[in-house]
Amino acid sequence: MINTQLLKINNLTVAFRTDEGVFNAVDDVSFHINRGEIVGLVGESGCGKTVTALSIPRLIPSPPGIIEKGKIAFNGMDLLKLDATEIRKIRGKAISMIFQEPSTALSPLQRIGQQMVEALRLHQKLTNKEAWNIAESWLEKVRIPDAGEGMFAYPHQLSGGMQQRIMIAMALMLEPELIIADEPTTALDVTIQAQVFELIREMRQEQTSMLLITHDLGVIWEMCDRVLVMYASRIAEEGTKTDIFSEPAHPYTRELLKSIPKLSGNKKRLKAISGQVPSPLHYPSGCHFRDRCPHEFERCAKEKPQLISLNGGHKAACFIANKLIEA
Ligand SMILES: Nc1ncnc2c1ncn2[C@@H]1O[C@H](COP(=O)(O)OP(=O)(O)OP(=O)(O)O)[C@@H](O)[C@H]1O
Ligand SMILES: [Mg+2]
Repeated sequence: MINTQLLKINNLTVAFRTDEGVFNAVDDVSFHINRGEIVGLVGESGCGKTVTALSIPRLIPSPPGIIEKGKIAFNGMDLLKLDATEIRKIRGKAISMIFQEPSTALSPLQRIGQQMVEALRLHQKLTNKEAWNIAESWLEKVRIPDAGEGMFAYPHQLSGGMQQRIMIAMALMLEPELIIADEPTTALDVTIQAQVFELIREMRQEQTSMLLITHDLGVIWEMCDRVLVMYASRIAEEGTKTDIFSEPAHPYTRELLKSIPKLSGNKKRLKAISGQVPSPLHYPSGCHFRDRCPHEFERCAKEKPQLISLNGGHKAACFIANKLIEA
């Protein structure tokens, strides 16, 4: 097929200049997302997932952040070269975001209907009435119990789950080509989480791509086609869901998988990865994972491991990935 790649990121490097010092929150990150594909981005807290995601629609707060290097091609366009008006047109319409906290996306001062109508009319030629009807039909689609009434509600009058549904409706109603969902259900309880994912899956059009950020490997397994594992500002491993779960090659991925809670008898055991993610101001030289890695050897301190191809699209940034995968 011609041009199945919707998004292609090359060597993205994002730095923050803070009072404590300058550091790269995202360091030389490259990956792609095909049309219609759901790609998961997983890794411990602070490793640069959100910063990676916010770079795509150019939402990195600047200062203190700056995209130092890289290329973000979306539909063949270089997003880093667009001017402010052009990038605003892409946000919301072609690329939409679902955040962890609905309150960051919904205005507390406006009724739901009004917010949706404005968003629709900003990107499409519609009369007020037409936009109202479309918005209301989306509230029905995301199963807001009384959609007609819901249009007149203020966000604070709705539960967290309802607000999250509305945010999903708003993210999908403009029929984006790429949805970036950053921990979209972390604030919700487990049953609602499942419903929200079901909804996203159902509502998403076949050609819509998604970057799904989560800590939850269960969600990755349920939802994603391909997975990116990120550790301390870099991609540690990339592969299909089966590559990652059946043949993890990077020691970090292997440790992450071990940390999934297992049911033994009636006890839930969670094995945490030993050690902590270092602060980006103090990443070790060479491989960022080396001081937590059970396989560390001399070369790891001297050289940054690059992603090496193992098998098709399966790649890992570890000098001994080939050995580990065979073991
Ligand atoms: N606005 C900012 N100013 C300074 N540092 C920042 C800013 N935003 C992020 N960082 C730093 O960049 C690094 C990466 O943060 P990021 O939010 O991308 O992590 P994350 O992987 O999304 O973590 P989590 O799973 O907790 O959401 C962290 O060290 C964070 O403190
Ligand atoms: Mg985050």
